[in-house]
Amino acid sequence: MSFVKGHTRWLKVDPARPDRELVAEAAAVLRAGGLVAFPTETVYGLGANALDGQAVLRIFTAKGRPADNPLIVHVAAAEEAAALTAGPLPATAVLLMEAFWPGPLTLVLPGAGKVAPEVSAGLSSVALRMPDHPVALALIRAAGTPVAAPSANTSGRPSPTTAGHVKEDLDGLIEVVLDGGTCGLGLESTVLDLTGETPVILRPGAVTPEDIARVAGKVLVDPAADGPVRAASRQPDYSLPAAGPKPASEGCPTGKDSSRPRSPGFKYTHYAPAAPLFLFEGSPEKVAAKVLEAARAHVAAGRRVGILAAGDRKDYREAGELILTGRRDAPATVAAGLYAALRKFDAAGVDVILAEGLDGGGVALAVRNRLRKAAGGRVIKV
Ligand code: TXA
Ligand code: MG
Repeated sequence: MSFVKGHTRWLKVDPARPDRELVAEAAAVLRAGGLVAFPTETVYGLGANALDGQAVLRIFTAKGRPADNPLIVHVAAAEEAAALTAGPLPATAVLLMEAFWPGPLTLVLPGAGKVAPEVSAGLSSVALRMPDHPVALALIRAAGTPVAAPSANTSGRPSPTTAGHVKEDLDGLIEVVLDGGTCGLGLESTVLDLTGETPVILRPGAVTPEDIARVAGKVLVDPAADGPVRAASRQPDYSLPAAGPKPASEGCPTGKDSSRPRSPGFKYTHYAPAAPLFLFEGSPEKVAAKVLEAARAHVAAGRRVGILAAGDRKDYREAGELILTGRRDAPATVAAGLYAALRKFDAAGVDVILAEGLDGGGVALAVRNRLRKAAGGRVIKV
């Protein structure tokens, strides 16, 4: 063993030109069955050798992740992905890899049974991605093995976009963190199911339905990809949920357990901040008026309010603790700051979070999906 289990070492690396020796150290830990967190262009991943079932099981333990939620396998070249799938790659997969790899697109394909069964949680398919980050690619190459990696957060918490976020959740539970600064995109990759006749987006991300349609001809978006809306209402109810066990956790199935979801991760509510989040959707003017009304009602009831907005407003600043996540007309800027903002609200200990929704397609679809999940369905249409 080249590591002490549970003693976390922090290795700071240059994100553009990672130090070879540090990467080699981390790769040796992976080969020996250890866990290494590393930056990607989307969020930090928590990696283990995908061929080593024991190592993969440790990911589930460290995160508190349910065993039936499969992991993405990270590779450093398209040929490595092809070797892990059953039969020749479909033509669409080849085109998509050429267009978007390395990059934030995960492809679900029939598996060849080469990765440890724990990775795919009993499914016959395998999810594959080549990340667009020098540190991630250097690590995978140096390890010489495919790397299974979910986001490097405790299940149910927002995904980490800095090494500091990884430390908040996993210090003492994993062996190495490669600190390569802040992840640029801020939301997890697009997950695309290529096991059927038509590609289906299971999770929206920075590679948009429009991008995929341009290359693949057609694409479907799983209805769940727009995020859950529970009892969307024009009669807003600002009351907080009763105290007790938190319903929103990666470990708790949400809603009625209807038919088996296409992506097992879908039945879990991810990305949940500690305080209940209310999401306001509609025209920006009406949303602002309702956010203010709700903020004042909460403050009057003695609660600390966090406001998540995509545009600065003096009246918001006066009504609560405002965090700006970007600009409404540039959804990618909202995506980049979203998870860090949710973590800041957790750290500040606000009682309730009020968030402005985002309309439109493209990356806005991904932002809306994460916001609605963070809201656990508490969406107020105005
Ligand atoms: O950007 C990302 O994708 C990040 C970085 C670290 O690469 N990873 C990530 O992993 O977000 P994770 O585990 O947090 O999300 C993986 C998603 C889950 O929703 C899971 O259910 C789905 O991919 N998934 C994995 N394997 C699958 C499969 N064989 N079929 C369907 N869905 C699958
Ligand atoms: Mg995750």
